[in-house]
Amino acid sequence: MMDLMHRALLTAFGALSVFYAVVKISLGYWKRRGILHEKPKFFWGNIKGVVSGKRHAQDALQTIYTEYKGKAPFVGFYACLKPFILVLDLKLVHQIIFTDAGHFTSRGLYSNPSGEPLSANLLQLDGHKWRSLHAKSAEVFTPANMQKLLPRLAQISTRIQSDLDKANLQSCNISELVGAYNTDVMASMAFGLGGQHHQEFAKWTRNYWADFRLWRAYLALEFPFIARLLQYKSYAEPATAYFQKVALAQIQENRRRDRQPLQSFLQLYCNAAHPLGDDKVAAQAFGFLQAGLGPLNATLGFCLYELARHPELQDRTRLEIKKTLEQHGDLVTPEFLRELRFTKQVLNETLRLHTPHPFLLRRATKEFELPGSVFVIARGNNVLIPTAAIHRDPEIYPDPERFDPNRFEEETKRSRPPAAFLPFGDGLRGCIAARFAEQQLLVGLVALLKNHRYAPCVETTIPVEYDNRRLLLMPKSDIKLSVERVE
Ligand code: HEM
Repeated sequence: MMDLMHRALLTAFGALSVFYAVVKISLGYWKRRGILHEKPKFFWGNIKGVVSGKRHAQDALQTIYTEYKGKAPFVGFYACLKPFILVLDLKLVHQIIFTDAGHFTSRGLYSNPSGEPLSANLLQLDGHKWRSLHAKSAEVFTPANMQKLLPRLAQISTRIQSDLDKANLQSCNISELVGAYNTDVMASMAFGLGGQHHQEFAKWTRNYWADFRLWRAYLALEFPFIARLLQYKSYAEPATAYFQKVALAQIQENRRRDRQPLQSFLQLYCNAAHPLGDDKVAAQAFGFLQAGLGPLNATLGFCLYELARHPELQDRTRLEIKKTLEQHGDLVTPEFLRELRFTKQVLNETLRLHTPHPFLLRRATKEFELPGSVFVIARGNNVLIPTAAIHRDPEIYPDPERFDPNRFEEETKRSRPPAAFLPFGDGLRGCIAARFAEQQLLVGLVALLKNHRYAPCVETTIPVEYDNRRLLLMPKSDIKLSVERVE
């Protein structure tokens, strides 16, 4: 008995010693490379509190950015045991996403195309698979194609009016209202679904993260080879089965009926000169849902929240929308959208202050020597560009907490350094649908604002709080406002 206990104790001690050594070696990476870094805490690195949901990842990044900006072009930090580079200098940001983007074509996310076919999407893939997919997708997301989808977008936005007619005007759930519009757009444009299927589609969009556990996702990121071997799945299987089934059915349907009006990205992929295989088109539809729905909902929700708190800006936006609509015979056309200058400024200011993706990710695919300096980003290093912190940097945006759309007047914009505003990322791995997303947000705002006025109500949380359990900047609870009809 004593012998057994003795052996158990020895095994436990051995395991603990190995664990201790692994942690110490991992957290010594930046020190060994002689790179300026934030001192890590045992095991948690520099994100203690983020994993437990006590603070938002953005808060941790903001703290490091503020402390080290100006001291070096980048600083090292650890997300648990994983070393990251946090870029501090806008010139280096510009190099990474534009001039030297060839060194940083990977994002380093987990995907497992054979075990989870929907993960073979543009957002998650890297390497040559991403490259050929990107070339095909660039043919889909052309400005001309996006304009062709505008009439369908305008048609979908009419649901906002009818939803508002049924809403509780004293305390309207804005997050639900904008969520219903954006989900309809996704069902229709990414999956090509007719209106009768949208309710079921909406149900599954709320379910695909059901099995998500941060620690498992972390292990999959850290050890992708083992995760693939163990067939780790990022999304709930019933949900991915549903999305795959409906996308494949729509692709078949699309083949049966030719000469139908252009209404979706799915059609554009299927009609390409060298179309992708059906499974790959389905994966793109799912990737768009995953990449687009959260940021679209957050942006429209935050935008109305800010306008409710700034009635004078809200009136100015509504006036511009109404006047411009009158000049265009009440039609939502590309020319009409182009003339909504102030409304666009309002959207951009929302994207600055409440940047949905608080950071951009890149993985160095080749060693990168910073020109004219001794610094090197090694092959395989994970690089993080802290966009939300840049958007709140007082040296770039004075009085950064103030919501001020005038920051996006042409002349003021030109006075800022390049790479100072990156809500959609940019360069090779920038958001492929940025133009479409802007169009969708503008059309949504037109429908929301032309006949309705919004104000804070007793259920409005001021200041708005972010949800610490999400990596995106999303509201912690639904945004609620009072609504009044205006003629
Ligand atoms: C407010 C709305 C949106 C915001 C703020 C946004 C932002 C972003 C950002 C920051 C990235 C990473 C860019 C980078 O690493 O440089 C990204 C990538 C991406 N987004 Fe968006 N996005 C939005 C809407 C959409 C929509 C509606 C779609 C699809 C219809 C979409 C599809 C994608 C895809 C496929 C990628 C990956 C591109 C690649 O790696 O090649 N996004 N988006």
